[in-house]
Formats: sequence, structure tokens, C-alpha cells
Amino acid sequence: MTPLRVAIVGSGPAGFYAADQLLAAGELDATVDVFDRLPTPWGLVRAGVSPDHPKIKAVAGRYEKTAARDGFRFFGNVDVGRDVPVEELRAHYHAVIYAVGASADRSMGIPGEELPGSHSASHVVGWYNGHPDFADHQLDLAATTAVVIGNGNVAIDVARMLSQPRETLARTDVADHALDALGSSSIEQVVVLGRRGPAHAAFTTPGLIELSTVDGLDVLVDPADLQPDGTSESAVAADDPLLATKLAALRCYVASESHGAGGPGRRRMTLRFFAAPLEIVGDGRVEGVRVARTAIVADDDGRLRAVATEQEETIPCQLVVRAVGYRGRPLPGLPFDERSATIPNVRGRVVDGPGGAPLPGDYVSGWIKRGPSGVIGTSRKDSQETVDALLEDLAAGKLPDPSVEDADAIVRLLAERAPEHVTYAGWQAIDAAERAAGEPLGRPRVKFVRTRHLLDAAGRELTRNSG
Ligand SMILES: Cc1cc2nc3c(=O)[nH]c(=O)nc-3n(C[C@H](O)[C@H](O)[C@H](O)COP(=O)(O)OP(=O)(O)OC[C@H]3O[C@@H](n4cnc5c(N)ncnc54)[C@H](O)[C@@H]3O)c2cc1C
Ligand SMILES: NC(=O)c1ccc[n+]([C@@H]2O[C@H](COP(=O)([O-])OP(=O)(O)OC[C@H]3O[C@@H](n4cnc5c(N)ncnc54)[C@H](OP(=O)(O)O)[C@@H]3O)[C@@H](O)[C@H]2O)c1
Repeated sequence: MTPLRVAIVGSGPAGFYAADQLLAAGELDATVDVFDRLPTPWGLVRAGVSPDHPKIKAVAGRYEKTAARDGFRFFGNVDVGRDVPVEELRAHYHAVIYAVGASADRSMGIPGEELPGSHSASHVVGWYNGHPDFADHQLDLAATTAVVIGNGNVAIDVARMLSQPRETLARTDVADHALDALGSSSIEQVVVLGRRGPAHAAFTTPGLIELSTVDGLDVLVDPADLQPDGTSESAVAADDPLLATKLAALRCYVASESHGAGGPGRRRMTLRFFAAPLEIVGDGRVEGVRVARTAIVADDDGRLRAVATEQEETIPCQLVVRAVGYRGRPLPGLPFDERSATIPNVRGRVVDGPGGAPLPGDYVSGWIKRGPSGVIGTSRKDSQETVDALLEDLAAGKLPDPSVEDADAIVRLLAERAPEHVTYAGWQAIDAAERAAGEPLGRPRVKFVRTRHLLDAAGRELTRNSG
């Protein structure tokens, strides 16, 4: 058999951890080609992690080490499924790992979701992080009140970014268009809506505490929301130290309210709980969110759910961001489970439908494998499980031999199908240009936000395959 050749589709954390695990297994002598539909690598580390979290973005330094390993190649600006169909990719490799993430949005299924002024978090996050798909997205920041729906870490990220002063943002790699818009925004207050209680808020405590460090921001919590609600809220808190810390942090914000919040030039963020959105209202554009007070009830399976009561109110606002979770997209040529919005798999081996037979040589990792939850590090373990399955199949002789023998035939195919693909050297040229533009401004980088500009920056390296 020829040395193991693996393609990885998607250069986010899941893709890069899988590449590293394969290339680090020295005795394998594997080669790994990583493809991404964007000209740039790192997935949500570049396009999702908040610009005001540079230390988290620094994880990319680990992936740079992977890219420096023998046997690694990067092919950016190649949309697998569109530029190269999956059947064709299979012909060039013993195995393909799909690590394409989950870039669509969960829908709430309530009226008014699509009103002008109502935005999904994925668009807003892509916009402020300079994702080329959202370079022309328009966020009307003449709004004075924004409502962020959802209680996860993404909701907290977005609420914080809407509240940061220009001086803070100006030290980050936020996209220039977003720096201009956020830096001159009229937002005075951001309301974050959780449909369940504080004990079930999906956000984590560090992000909650960090809100207290935002210059000029007063964070408020209604003390009534912190009262045990008579169901199991109180029971949950009793013997969970992590939860106790979260509730203590929330109580500090109740205390800060009594110190008088929202003075001149200051912004307010109100964390509301037990508030389920019923409708986004407005005549032609967002004017408010109608919410119901919820009661928490246990499902048959014991999960605590928020159920709307008859107590309703409308929160006036001009901007809504829906941060209720991401959703996987189907990839043409591969099975897709609509219910979980994942590629059906058993421990990373793609199967031809839930409960179905494995598709030899096809694997998945990351959000498209397990759904859109978990932090960057979660994908490391996830990829290890997938790589272990792949290596087991290799040892058992279950990997199909590629019908194309020449490892460089893929480069010739790309020259035809995706002539403007970006090699790793091309990405390094983009990286250097962005960092150089940021340096005199005291910023980590100034991002190119348009594909054309990224490709121009990749410059002469564009069609070289030596990356
Ligand atoms: C807004 C936001 C902020 C976050 N902040 C943090 C944080 O601060 N800390 C933390 O630990 N975690 C954070 N996370 C979670 C973390 O980003 C994810 O757990 C992780 O990125 C998932 O990795 P992945 O590789 O599965 O997907 P992704 O990172 O989404 O990578 C998928 C890659 O596949 C590419 N791709 C998609 N389709 C194709 C195709 N057809 N052909 C070729 N390429 C394709 C995409 O362009 C992308 O580069 C955040 C998530 C979000 C949404
Ligand atoms: N700093 C970080 O480490 C960081 C930053 C960002 C993201 N991440 C990670 O990335 C993953 C994705 O984050 P996420 O915030 O997108 O997802 P998430 O953690 O699943 O949170 C989604 C939130 O939306 C709410 N929701 C869902 N449907 C709703 C509806 N119809 N109406 C009202 N609320 C609704 C959920 O409430 P219920 O709980 O009631 O369903 C939940 O509060 C998470 O694992 C997160 O930790 C990490």
C-alpha cells in the first residue's frame, strides 16, 4: 500500500487536531491535506472567538506547529462539495475526515424572526470577526436598546461586544467596518434574555464575571430572578460548587444595581431570566420583543424545560440578536441527519444514515460530528476518537485504496477547479500582511475582510503547492 494519504475538510480546531494526531504518529508516514472553503485557516478561532479574547485566539499558535510538520499541506479557498465533489476527493485519498463545523443557525420558529433589525448571532459574529461571507452585513447601531436572545456563551460574547467602548475594541483585531460601527453606536442598553432560570443558564462563570470588567458598563440582575422558583432551581444549586459560584456572581450584579446604574455616558446590560420570546414585533422593522414569563417544569425524561405562563410583556428595542445556537449544514454527497443536523456517524465513522452501515474511508470530527456545543479543547478529544477509528480501520485493511495513485494529482485537479486556491505559504503571506497593518496601530492585526483582498495578499504564493 502507498503511504497513508488523508484529506481533512475544514481547518478549524477539529480539523487541525486530527491533522496533528495523524502527523504525530511518526511510524505512519502519513500525509495530510487540509482543505477550507475560506482562504484562511483556523475556523471559528479566527471567525467566531471574540476579538476581545486574544488569549483564546492564540491557540492558533499550536495549529501553526501542526502546519510545520512534514507531510502537511493546506488548500484554502476550496469549497468541498462545490469545487471538488466528495466522490472525487475520495478517489485521491485513503480516507477523508469531514470537520466542516456547524455554520447555520437554529431557528426559534416565532413570528418576526426575519424582520429587519433581527439578526442571527452567526451573522453578527461573522461580521465583527471579518468573515468574508458577512463583509456586507448591515447592523443598524442607531438603536438605543438591543435584545440578545439566548443564554449561552455566544449570547454573552455578543452582548459584551455591543457594550465595549471604542477604545477597547480599537486594540483588537475586530474588523474595521465593525470597529467603525460599534465604536460610534448609540446603544445605551443591552437586554439578555434567558428562557430558563440562572441555574440553567448555558453561559459559563468566567464570561459572566468578565462583564464586570467592561469599561463604562453596569450589569443588572433582577433580584426576583435569583429567588428559587419553587421547582428544582434551588435543589440544583445546593451541592454544585460551580453553580454556586455562578449564582454568587449574579448576586454581585444585583448588588451593583443598588449602587445606581446607567449614569451619563454609561451603558447598561440587564440579564433577564424566565423570559421566553413569543414574537419579535414591529411594523416593517424591529420595535420590540414580546416575552412570556416562564415556569420551569420537568419533562417525562426529567429535563427541566421553560413553559410560558400567561404573564406577558413587550420589551421595546430596535435591534435583536438571536443567539439560540448553531446548526450543521448538509454537505452534498454525504448523508445528513436533519434531526440532529449532523453527519450520521458511529465514533467518527460516517454511516449511511442513523443506524446504517459505515461508508469506508469517510470520517467526521468536531461540530458536524457531535452538534454545535463544546469549547475548542473538546474537539481535540473528539478528533482523537475519530483518528483512532481511522487507524483501526487502516490496521484491519478496511480503508479503500485511492484510485488515483499520484499524491500530486490533487494539485493538478485544483489548478483546474479552484485555480485561486491558497497554500499554507499563501496564508502566511496574508498573516504577515495583516499583522504588519496592525502593528503601527497597536493591534494584533487588521483583517482583510474580502475574499479578493485575501487572495491578493496571498499574492504570488496562490497556486504554489509547496505549503
Ligand atoms: C461565536 C463563537 C465564539 C466561540 N468562542 C469560543 C471561545 O472563546 N473559547 C472556546 O474554547 N470555544 C469557543 N467557541 C467554540 C469553538 O469555536 C468550537 O468548539 C470549535 O470551533 C468547533 O470546531 P470545528 O472544527 O468543529 O468547527 P469550525 O471551527 O467551525 O471549523 C469548520 C471549518 O470548516 C470549513 N468548512 C465548512 N464547510 C466547508 C466546505 N464545504 N469545504 C471546505 N471547508 C469547509 C469552515 O470554513 C471552517 O473553517 C466559540 C464558538 C462560537 C460560535
Ligand atoms: N468563551 C467561551 O468559552 C465560548 C464562547 C462562545 C461559545 N462557546 C461554546 O460554543 C458552544 C455554542 O454556544 P451557543 O451559545 O451558541 O450555544 P448554547 O450554549 O447551546 O446556548 C444556546 C442558548 O440558546 C437558548 N435557546 C435555544 N433555543 C431557544 C429559544 N427558542 N428561545 C430562547 N432561547 C433559546 C438555550 O436555552 P436552553 O438552555 O433553555 O435550551 C441556551 O441558553 C457552547 O458549547 C459554548 O460554550 C464558548
